Amino acid sequence: MAGNRQFFVSLLLLMLVPAAAQARDVPLNSLGTSAGKAQRRADGTLLLRPGATVRTDFAIRDGHGVSAQVERRDRCSTNLQVTARLGDQAASSPIGRTTRTAFWGLTAPAGTTRVSLTLTQPRDRAKNARTKKRRVRAKTRGARTKARGKPNARGKAKGRGKAKAARRPVRSRGPRRKRPRRKVAAARPCQASVLLKGLTVLERLPVNAAMTAAHFGQDPFYQALFPQHFDGLTPENELKWESTEPQQGQFTFEAGDRVVNWAIANGEYVRGHVLVWDFQNSDYVTNPKDFYLLQHHWKRAELIAVMQEHILNVVAHFRGRIPEWDVVNEAFNDDGSYKNNVWYQVIGPEYIALAFRLAHQADPQAKLFYNDLGYEAGGPHTQAVLNMVRSLREQGVPIDGVGLESHFDISAGPVTDRMRPVMQAFADLGMAEEITELDVNAGPGTDKLAAEAELYRQVARACLEQIACQRITTWGYTDRYSWLGSDRQGLPFDVNYQPKPAWQALQSEARPGI
Ligand code: G3I
Repeated sequence: MAGNRQFFVSLLLLMLVPAAAQARDVPLNSLGTSAGKAQRRADGTLLLRPGATVRTDFAIRDGHGVSAQVERRDRCSTNLQVTARLGDQAASSPIGRTTRTAFWGLTAPAGTTRVSLTLTQPRDRAKNARTKKRRVRAKTRGARTKARGKPNARGKAKGRGKAKAARRPVRSRGPRRKRPRRKVAAARPCQASVLLKGLTVLERLPVNAAMTAAHFGQDPFYQALFPQHFDGLTPENELKWESTEPQQGQFTFEAGDRVVNWAIANGEYVRGHVLVWDFQNSDYVTNPKDFYLLQHHWKRAELIAVMQEHILNVVAHFRGRIPEWDVVNEAFNDDGSYKNNVWYQVIGPEYIALAFRLAHQADPQAKLFYNDLGYEAGGPHTQAVLNMVRSLREQGVPIDGVGLESHFDISAGPVTDRMRPVMQAFADLGMAEEITELDVNAGPGTDKLAAEAELYRQVARACLEQIACQRITTWGYTDRYSWLGSDRQGLPFDVNYQPKPAWQALQSEARPGI
C-alpha cells in the first residue's frame, strides 16, 4: 500500500510541475558507481544493490528537483530507500515494489553541481523488534531449561536443576554415535536490488529584464512589480560611459549605484552593461579637443590610456555587486566587417582583447561577455564573431561568454531554427551564452500578440535546450518604457503592467511552477 501511495505522490509532484518545465536528463553513462554494489547493464541502465551510490557533477542552471525512473528487481519483503543529493541538499524516498518514479524537491544554484543517488536498506524496525523478541524468548527458554537441570553434553546436571537431575537415573548410553548432521542449507538472505532507468534534474531558467533609474520613484508600479516577476536586471543606461565618466577622469556612479543597490536589496542578480561601445560615449571620447578647444585626434597610446582608466575604475567600483559584464558591444557589421568606431580607428581590432584584459584585471571573478545583435541566426556577422571568439581564446584573452541580444521583429519567422546551430557553435567554443536584450517588435494592434508570444516561447525553448544558455533578459519589461516605443509592444507586460501572452509563454517555458 505504501508503495502505491508513494507512487501516486511522486506522480502528483511531477504533475504539479508544468510539462514544459525543463527536466534535463543526466546521462546514466556519466554516473560513477560504487564498486561491487552497482552493475552497469548492456542497455545502459544500472542495477543497484543496497549500499550502492551513483554520482556525477552536472552543469545546471537553477536546480529545483531531482527525479529518477526506477524499478524494484527483487521479491524481498525488505524496505529500500534512495537518498538523492543535489549540491549540499539531500532527501530520501522509499522505493516500493510499484515505485516507478521517485522525486526529490531539492534546490541548487546555477553551476556545476554534484548529483548522486544512494540505495540503502533501512533497518526494518518492526522486523528487527520481532527478531529481537524471538531471540530474547529463545534465550529465556534456554536459560530455564538449563535451570531445570537438563544434563549438559557430559551428562552432568548444572545449576538449580542439579537435584532433580540427580533423581533421574542416568541411562548409560554407551559410546555416543555421531549422528550425521543433516545439511540444512541456511536460507540465503534475499538480495534486494533496484534498476535505475533514468535520472533527471528539474531546473528553471533565470528570467531578467533591463531597468532604468529614469523611472525610479516616478512610477509607483515600476519598482513595486518587478521583483515578483524577475530574477535579475541589467541597468539599461546607467553603466554606460556617458553616465559613469561624463568628463575625463571624473567618475559619477550615483545613477548606477541607485539601480544596482536597489536590485541587490531586492535579491535581484545584476548584469553590467556596457564598458566599450560606439554609442552613448562621453563627448570627450568621440569628440576630443585639446587645450584650445581645437579638434584633437587621439593617438593610439592616449586612447588606450583613456580606455584603461575607464574600465579599471568602473569595474572596480561595482566589484562584488556585479558578477558579469558586457565588456564590448556590437563590434561588427552584418557583413562581418569591423564597425569603424573610434576604438577600431585609433587602436585597431586589438581594442577588443584589451578591453577584456582590463575588465579581468579590475575584477578577476567577473564573467566577461561579448554582446551583439544581428548575429543570432547565422551569416557573415555570426562567422565574424565566431572567428573573433576563437582568436581571443587562442590568445588566452579572458572571455567567458557571448550575449545574443535578440531584438527581433515579428516578421523574423522561425528564427530559433537558425539560432540553435549558432548557439551550439559558441557552446563548442566553450562560451556561456545569454539572451541579453530580448524584445519582439510586434507593432500596434492586438493581432500580432499571439505570434509575438510564440516567438518568445521559441527563444526560451532554444535557450533551455542549450545548457550553455544560462539566462534570458528582456530589454525592459513593460511596453510603457520600451526603447522601441510603447506602440511597438515589444515586451512581456503591456503599458498598464498587465502580462501579455508573451509573458505566459516565457513563464511556461523557462520556469517550473515553483
Ligand atoms: O540622458 C538624456 C537626457 O538628458 C535627455 O533629456 C534625453 C532626451 O534626449 O535623452 C537622454 O538620453 C537618452 C538615453 O537613452 C538615456 O535615456 C538618449 O537620447 C537615447 O538615445 C538613449 O537610448 C538608449 C539606446 O540604447 C542608445 O542607443 C536606450 O535607452 C537603450 O535601451 C538602448 O539600449 C541598447 C543597448 O544598450 C545595446 N543594444 C541595443 C540597445 C537598443 O539600442
